[in-house]
Amino acid sequence: MKAIVLRAYGGPEELKAEDVKVDKPGAGEVRLRQTVIGINFHDAYVRSGLYKTLALPGIPGIEAAGVVEAAGEGVTAFKDGDRAAYVTAGYGAYASHRLIAADKLIRLPDAIDDRTAGAMMVKGLTVQMLLTKLRPLAAGETCLVHAAAGGVGQMLTQWAHHLGATVIGTVGTDAKASKAKANGCDHVIVYSREDFAARVTEITAGKGVQMVFDSVGGDTFEGSLAALAAQGILVNFGQSSGPVPPFAPARLAAKSNAVWRPILFHYIENRSARQEMADALFAAVAEGIVKVEIGAEFPLEAAAEAHRAMEARATTGSTILRV
Ligand SMILES: NC(=O)c1ccc[n+]([C@@H]2O[C@H](COP(=O)([O-])OP(=O)(O)OC[C@H]3O[C@@H](n4cnc5c(N)ncnc54)[C@H](OP(=O)(O)O)[C@@H]3O)[C@@H](O)[C@H]2O)c1
Repeated sequence: MKAIVLRAYGGPEELKAEDVKVDKPGAGEVRLRQTVIGINFHDAYVRSGLYKTLALPGIPGIEAAGVVEAAGEGVTAFKDGDRAAYVTAGYGAYASHRLIAADKLIRLPDAIDDRTAGAMMVKGLTVQMLLTKLRPLAAGETCLVHAAAGGVGQMLTQWAHHLGATVIGTVGTDAKASKAKANGCDHVIVYSREDFAARVTEITAGKGVQMVFDSVGGDTFEGSLAALAAQGILVNFGQSSGPVPPFAPARLAAKSNAVWRPILFHYIENRSARQEMADALFAAVAEGIVKVEIGAEFPLEAAAEAHRAMEARATTGSTILRV
């Protein structure tokens, strides 16, 4: 099989294609012929060495869709030819084939094609986690979504808008502002040139927002805190601009705020919880609540180029690798 093997932490140039042997599936495993691999910002943290969660040499990547081509002993839920997708903290997705425990697979309904599945599982499940697992966002509330034209940002905006919330989105460029509007943002702030916290105060007539969804991290954390309403929650779920510096929890007392730092993997460890979340995501796509934009796609061998584009803030929506 072809795989992208990371041998040293570093820049995108460390993502190199190699020929790797793939074994027969063991007990409880299947061999998946992968068709579409999702690119996530998490992959950049792993590649750069910010996270040391992939042992080197190793194959990065946490999501893909494909077709089962062999099932190991004891596997009854999947057979050859079944279409499936997965999200895993076990890495190994940047490859044409892989072995994976059958109980990690999510069966794909006919209505969800491989491209959509490969582009949305991590991002769509993350959106569900953000909107339902701590404090459900309610109709009539206002939220702030950073990087609103990005992969998670677009789906989060669409779903929050559907729930009846007012969505304020931030984006880096005017072109992204048009995308964010088209996805359901009621207000868009180009935070590369505007003070977003001051604009939120203006838009909300001084009240602030009930929830901030902040995946940008270092550059936005302080402004996000300032943009919160009394009792509002800052959800810091990423660090595209760099990690958030340490802060004193006592600062939250000024407005009885809370900060939540969730990780999707913890919410999908349990198989039935994962299936329930996947079913809700598939339904949201079928109903047109979530529309997955694939803004860029690359062949598997060009994974480095995909990382360059993502880290240069040049992508919108989801980015995928084709096998
Ligand atoms: N906690 C979890 O379980 C979880 C799960 C999934 C994703 N995430 C996080 O969610 C975020 C979004 O993931 P994604 O894959 O959908 O990526 P993405 O949002 O499509 O891409 C990142 C975006 O962040 C913005 N950004 C701001 N400052 C940046 C900088 N210095 N460098 C690069 N980008 C910067 C850019 O948008 P603008 O140009 O508009 O600023 C960029 O397009 C990531 O931080 C990721 O780690 C977390």
